[in-house]
Amino acid sequence: MILIDGKKTASEIRSELKTEISKLVQQGKNVPGLVAILVGANPASEIYVRSKAKACEEIGMRSKVELLSESTKEDELLELVKKYNNDNNYHGILVQLPLPYHISEEKVIETISPKKDVDGFHPISIGNLVIGKDTFVSCTPAGIHELLKRYNIETKGKHVVVLGRSNIVGKPIANIMLQKKEGANSIVTICHSATKNISDFTQQADILIAAIGSPNFVKADMVKEEVVIIDVGINRIEDKSASKGYKVVGDVDFNSVAPKASFITPVPGGVGPMTIAMLLKNTLTAYLKYGE
Ligand code: GUN
Repeated sequence: MILIDGKKTASEIRSELKTEISKLVQQGKNVPGLVAILVGANPASEIYVRSKAKACEEIGMRSKVELLSESTKEDELLELVKKYNNDNNYHGILVQLPLPYHISEEKVIETISPKKDVDGFHPISIGNLVIGKDTFVSCTPAGIHELLKRYNIETKGKHVVVLGRSNIVGKPIANIMLQKKEGANSIVTICHSATKNISDFTQQADILIAAIGSPNFVKADMVKEEVVIIDVGINRIEDKSASKGYKVVGDVDFNSVAPKASFITPVPGGVGPMTIAMLLKNTLTAYLKYGE
């Protein structure tokens, strides 16, 4: 069994990006910039947004965090997004989700210029992904794809079973794995809440990607020997022995499944750290393609 070290891989990617950005600085060029917009005081989102900003700064990217109050009107947010659409210092715009109920996520996402859509959430980005055109791909699925490539995991003709059909993970990773390209070219099945007898599908998986948000859902008897496990789950469960009173586990019961797997991502330290690394990579791509 090989443990897929997302933390190490993400750190390698960040140092590759740092090198590229330092070359731009040496050439006296503008640097890539990312603005992250957060509406309302959601402690978890605030931590995410601040860690994104810190990651930018560490590699020499320009970064800005816009913290807006919960009562911000939809129009005000749309105006702010439009302002950054026209700001040449920011090549990526990220609006942290979820948004307060009175603001339409759909409208906000569609207002972000597809040229700055480093989250890959805009319908144009998603459409381009589906038809196999080069585009921004949402960061967690892009991170999974990167891990499969960097660990030289055979994907061509393999059966990838995805658990979960979210717009952020399940649907985009399924579309990536379907493409006729390196680290993909797979046969893809998506299982979801209406799937009956889910084990019938998971047992067929050469590569199982679990993104359902259900702690320790996948058990050893649900997978075959030598399966590749990609665990996207980040679930808090009570743990009285931990100082915080909880621990974080994935969607896969790691202890029972790992001995059967050929490769497996741990939680934490697997897919999670890749998300921010891919966000930074998308921002550099936005700069190189459309900015400077
Ligand atoms: N909320 C949870 N994950 C994400 C993400 O990847 N991007 C944004 N913008 N919001 C999120």
